[in-house]
Amino acid sequence: MKILSKEVIANYAGARIIKLSVFAPEISLKARAGNFVVVMVNEKGERIPLTIVDADSKAGSITLIFQEAGLTTRILGALDAGDKLYALSGPLGHATEIKNYGKVILVGGGVGIAEILPVARALKEAGLPAGQAGNHITAILGSRNKGMLILEAELKSASDQLYIMTDDGSYGLRGFTTDILKELLSKDKYDLIYSVGPIPMMKKVTEIAAEYKVKTLVSLNALMVDATGMCGCCRVSIFGEVKFSCVDGPEFDGSGVDWAELEKRNKAYSIQEKHICNLSRYIKP
Ligand code: FES
Repeated sequence: MKILSKEVIANYAGARIIKLSVFAPEISLKARAGNFVVVMVNEKGERIPLTIVDADSKAGSITLIFQEAGLTTRILGALDAGDKLYALSGPLGHATEIKNYGKVILVGGGVGIAEILPVARALKEAGLPAGQAGNHITAILGSRNKGMLILEAELKSASDQLYIMTDDGSYGLRGFTTDILKELLSKDKYDLIYSVGPIPMMKKVTEIAAEYKVKTLVSLNALMVDATGMCGCCRVSIFGEVKFSCVDGPEFDGSGVDWAELEKRNKAYSIQEKHICNLSRYIKP
C-alpha cells in the first residue's frame, strides 16, 4: 500500500485535486470500471471510499483521484511518493455493466470526471468482436473554472465527442453540463447516459434524460463506514426500496433515486466536517 507517485492535477485558490498511484497488486488484478476502494490513511482515521480510476496489473498499481475537502482528504493529500497508507480494501461495489449500448453520453462534474473515465474507456472497448467499434461515446465535462478541470486529454482519447462546460466561461463553453446534455438529446437519439458528480447535477441529468426517455445510471456518493454492507450508513432509497450503496451500488438507475433523502443524509455530518482541526497533528512538517 505504498504510494508510488503523486501528482497535483488541479490547484485553484487553495482547492486541490490529487492523483495517487498506489501499489496494490491484488486489487489491480481484479479492478473493473465502477469499482472503488476504501482507504484508511492512518490507524485512527476514518474510512473513505475512492473510485479506482485506473489499474495496471503489470505494475501492480491502482490510480486514485480525490479532491481535498475535509480532514481525511487533506491528510491523504499531504502524503508523498514512498509513504504508505494504513489500510486499503477493494475492489468493492458492483462493476459497471459493460456491453454494447450504442450511443452513450457520460456526464462528469468536478472530481466526478475522474469516475467517468474508467467507464468511458471500458464502454469504448466494450468487448465486441475484433475489428468492430465499441460504443459511441460523448463525454460532457463540467468544472467551476479552467483551473479545476481535470483529465481533459484522457477523456478526449476515450471518447468520440467531448464537450467542456465551465461555470464562469473560463474554458470551453460557459454554462452547465445539463445545458449541453439537453441540446444533444433534442437533436439526436442516445441509448444510455452515465453521470457522476454533485447531487444536484446528477438529479438534473436524470430529469432531463427522463424527458427524452433515456436510461440514466448514476454513481452515488453516499457516506460510507465499513463498505461491506454491515453498518447501513450508505443506505439510499431506490424506487422506494432501501439499498446499500456499497454492496448494491454504487451505481443505480437515476430515475429511482430519492434525491432529497440522499442530500439530507449526506449533510448529516456537515457541522463536524466544518470543525477546524489542527492538521499539524497529522501531517509531517
Ligand atoms: Fe456500511 Fe454500506 S457503508 S452498509
